Amino acid sequence: MPYEVNGVVAAGKGAPVSVQKIIVPDPGPGEVVVRVQACGVCHTDLHYREGGINDEFPFLLGHEASGIVEVVGAGVTNVAPGDFVILNWRAVCGDCRACRKGKPWYCFNTFNASQPMTLASGQPLSNALGIGAFVEKTLVHAGQCTPVDRRVSPDVAGLLGCGVMAGLGAAINTGGVSRGDTVAVIGCGGVGSAAVAGARLAGAAKIIAVDVDQRKLEWAKDFGATDTVNARETDVVEAIQGLTDSFGADVVIDAVGRPETWKQAFYGRDLAGTVVLVGVPTPDMTLDMPLIDFFSRGGSLKSSWYGDCLPSRDFPMLVDLHLQGRLPLEKFVTERIGLGDVEQSFERMGRGDVLRSVVVFD
Ligand SMILES: NC(=O)c1ccc[n+]([C@@H]2O[C@H](COP(=O)([O-])OP(=O)(O)OC[C@H]3O[C@@H](n4cnc5c(N)ncnc54)[C@H](O)[C@@H]3O)[C@@H](O)[C@H]2O)c1
Ligand SMILES: [Zn+2]
Ligand SMILES: [Zn+2]
Repeated sequence: MPYEVNGVVAAGKGAPVSVQKIIVPDPGPGEVVVRVQACGVCHTDLHYREGGINDEFPFLLGHEASGIVEVVGAGVTNVAPGDFVILNWRAVCGDCRACRKGKPWYCFNTFNASQPMTLASGQPLSNALGIGAFVEKTLVHAGQCTPVDRRVSPDVAGLLGCGVMAGLGAAINTGGVSRGDTVAVIGCGGVGSAAVAGARLAGAAKIIAVDVDQRKLEWAKDFGATDTVNARETDVVEAIQGLTDSFGADVVIDAVGRPETWKQAFYGRDLAGTVVLVGVPTPDMTLDMPLIDFFSRGGSLKSSWYGDCLPSRDFPMLVDLHLQGRLPLEKFVTERIGLGDVEQSFERMGRGDVLRSVVVFD
């Protein structure tokens, strides 16, 4: 029997989101129905609502979630009813050119559920990042479910499903931060703060947090920043150099994604260092820089998609580190809200009042 449940829908470009009845089909082969326990509000949900990702309205929003497997379809072997899982948007195919090269974290053909969830009218929904989890139950591909230790709190675990993983992975996986490194993180929202936490976990000696908002800088200290730079008051490149014997940092992470912040990252980096772009620019943004600077400064300029994570490898490991007290995931949760509060949480996100609002289900 299909399920009839409540979920948060973005019906049209820029229109406020609303709670609607959603029809969730029984799982087909390779599919799973998950009873969602918690789902964080990510900036990307707001991008969807604003039509910034594509025009395939109506969207079922939410994609940073954890929950309990309710029922599995034919042929599902990696999870069983009752398992506690984090949902991921990188269910690797094992067969594309990236997977075949042994780099599945770049998988170019990730799996989603093949049946649509619909409105009560029967109109199919587009799922945010192929998930759709501001809903009491959701239908996903089995590969989108990563079982983890169930002792972790669901609201905290769900954050690993997107933004926190993106930031941690930008530092640890993409940036390759290691013991003794100097690291700067530009933009310390949910993603940048996670990059700070990742740099600490990896043993960075100096972690410089940069933001235009003093509150974010205070929070960043709590995640392990050793120094802070307010970009409204100070020249960012000079400040980073001043804190690194005038050399620049080994790894600079741009968690804003604008031309000016990327340039700060580029020039705030030591010779042969690494720049990681994890913030997402808009299509109109361009760069105009001397080509000789790219050559003469060497090193690597990288982008980080979902923190180059491999959910089956990274989620259980990061949950274990959290349970051991070495990764304070709970500090990302600024507030717990209900399904009907998502629209207001977008406003709080815009004002910079929150690192993460998390929808929790009874
Ligand atoms: N690459 C990925 O896989 C991935 C995944 C999730 C999110 N993201 C992207 O990461 C970015 C950050 O997401 P978030 O959830 O942390 O957003 P957020 O809005 O919580 O944080 C952005 C932070 O940047 C700061 N900021 C803005 N302009 C700045 C400037 N000029 N200099 C310094 N700081 C500045 C803000 O004060 C804020 O603290 C977004 O672009 C988001 O789309 C990327
Ligand atoms: Zn693949
Ligand atoms: Zn997200």
